[in-house]
Amino acid sequence: MIKQAIIPLAGLGTRLLPLTSVFAKELLPINGRPGIEYIIDECLDAGIKEIIFIISSKKLMIKKYFYSDNFYKKIIKKNKDPRILNEYKRILKYKNKIKFVFQNTPKGTGDAVLKTQKFIKNKYFLMLLPDDLIIQKNCSKAMINVHKKYKASVMASMKVKKNNVSRWGIYKINKKLNSRNFTIKGVIEKPSRNKAPSNKAVIGRYILPQSIFNKIKSLKPKEGKEIHITDAIQLLINDKENFIAHNFEGKYLDCGTIDGYINSSIEIGKL
Ligand code: G1P
Repeated sequence: MIKQAIIPLAGLGTRLLPLTSVFAKELLPINGRPGIEYIIDECLDAGIKEIIFIISSKKLMIKKYFYSDNFYKKIIKKNKDPRILNEYKRILKYKNKIKFVFQNTPKGTGDAVLKTQKFIKNKYFLMLLPDDLIIQKNCSKAMINVHKKYKASVMASMKVKKNNVSRWGIYKINKKLNSRNFTIKGVIEKPSRNKAPSNKAVIGRYILPQSIFNKIKSLKPKEGKEIHITDAIQLLINDKENFIAHNFEGKYLDCGTIDGYINSSIEIGKL
């Protein structure tokens, strides 16, 4: 049963500067709503009951957005505008599902995952990266179904241009299960073009086993380097943990770059 999701939100968002110098990128509006709300909706629609946000003290703004009860209450007292009331109810619904943990030094996704260890209850949990929006089809829901069928870990995947592999985690297929699902032989974080085992990239949705925590702990980051979740996944694959790459059906929107961010508003506006 996948009932918990984690979302790393402590990243600095340097690819979105200058917007992120004073603003949390996950709160930037995409077609009138903070990007993170699309990610939360995907989780709730996929049956997730609890979402753990990994933030940093620099990104307290995110917590404030969901903990603004007093602000809303004061306004609602004077102004019974149903729109404001509905917005408040929506924020409350989100707030009740979210727990916050802190990662105050940005040491990579692997390190962010580790911060959630004491809260994870079941054998498997979902992780979503907030830069990656997937629209038109709920990717998390589809991955949970794949997980149920194969009792395996799952990662979202798509083909990328060969000259762009160094932007992604790139994996190598072991076996085709059906048209959308493949077992994985290995995965490498942002390889150069000549070291890439394929042009198949990992996109920011993962169903991970609790055993990933010990693998992360065994990865010692070199001076100033991040701990990548990809490297911990490779250690699990070495230990024969079954990982499946799921070619998702929806449309991918990369909100982590300025061009992608602008385009995501246009695409979501068309829905
Ligand atoms: C992260 C992961 C990478 C993955 C990508 C998907 O990279 O480390 O393996 O392919 O997300 O968006 P980031 O975007 O944080 O650089």
